[in-house]
Amino acid sequence: MSWGLENRLARMFSPTSTNSLMLAVDHGYFMGPTHHLENARATITPLLPHADALALTRGILRKCVDPSATIPIVLRVSGGATILQEDLSHEAITTSMIEAARLNVSAVALSVFVGAPHEHESLTHLAGLVNEGEEYGIPVMAITAVGKELEKRDARYLALACRVSAELGAHIVKTYYCEDFSRVVEGCPVPLVVAGGPKLDSDRAALELARNAIDQGAHGIDMGRNIWQSDHPVAMLKALRAIVHEKASVREALDVLASERARTPVRDPAATA
Ligand code: R5P
Repeated sequence: MSWGLENRLARMFSPTSTNSLMLAVDHGYFMGPTHHLENARATITPLLPHADALALTRGILRKCVDPSATIPIVLRVSGGATILQEDLSHEAITTSMIEAARLNVSAVALSVFVGAPHEHESLTHLAGLVNEGEEYGIPVMAITAVGKELEKRDARYLALACRVSAELGAHIVKTYYCEDFSRVVEGCPVPLVVAGGPKLDSDRAALELARNAIDQGAHGIDMGRNIWQSDHPVAMLKALRAIVHEKASVREALDVLASERARTPVRDPAATA
């Protein structure tokens, strides 16, 4: 692994906990102005000091994140289908590796659609991106997205998707938590981070998801809606931080959440502007 590639990974994953707390705000690339991400700059800015990396597209990076920001960037470079399509797997590489280098990102990310109609394209895009990433010293994160027709997120499916991604050279794999998640981890030789999915019924449920994923071997989370759609996004991020980096139990994380909520009793007004 080149020095540059290792250095970029080391900026995202803590050397002490070996985990990363990534904040995902890339939803607009296929969902449009998602609830509470309509004004992306207002939502993102207060959260930046509390995350280890920020996952987004170049459009939002350029317009909504100050160039003086020091947070490592995970740049989504695949897209081309929206929620209006039945087949979400029809994606292309939308941002070049040289553009990623110009934007000084710490990693690039693309969706892979194992078992979907455009499986072949997404997997060969991953392999091609890894070839380029190795040249530039930029790690590649494969996102094991599931199309509308593949809502099944069980261990068997996710273990297949994660292993295939690692075999093709992905340096990090983002996937979903599921029952028997340790089976997914066992079969994947590169670090796994876990997405949150749609907003859960409670903050506790999101904290439990993170705790369970890490207990079973995930190296962190790459979470979006359960953070910035919560009533107290900064407090939620701090509570997740305690789980990801400080081995906090769900109970301890809920205490962090409660004390942070008390300090900021209403949702950051900027985030709802
Ligand atoms: C989905 O492909 C997007 O890349 C999101 O970044 C990902 O789903 C994580 O966000 P959330 O926790 O809201 O699911």
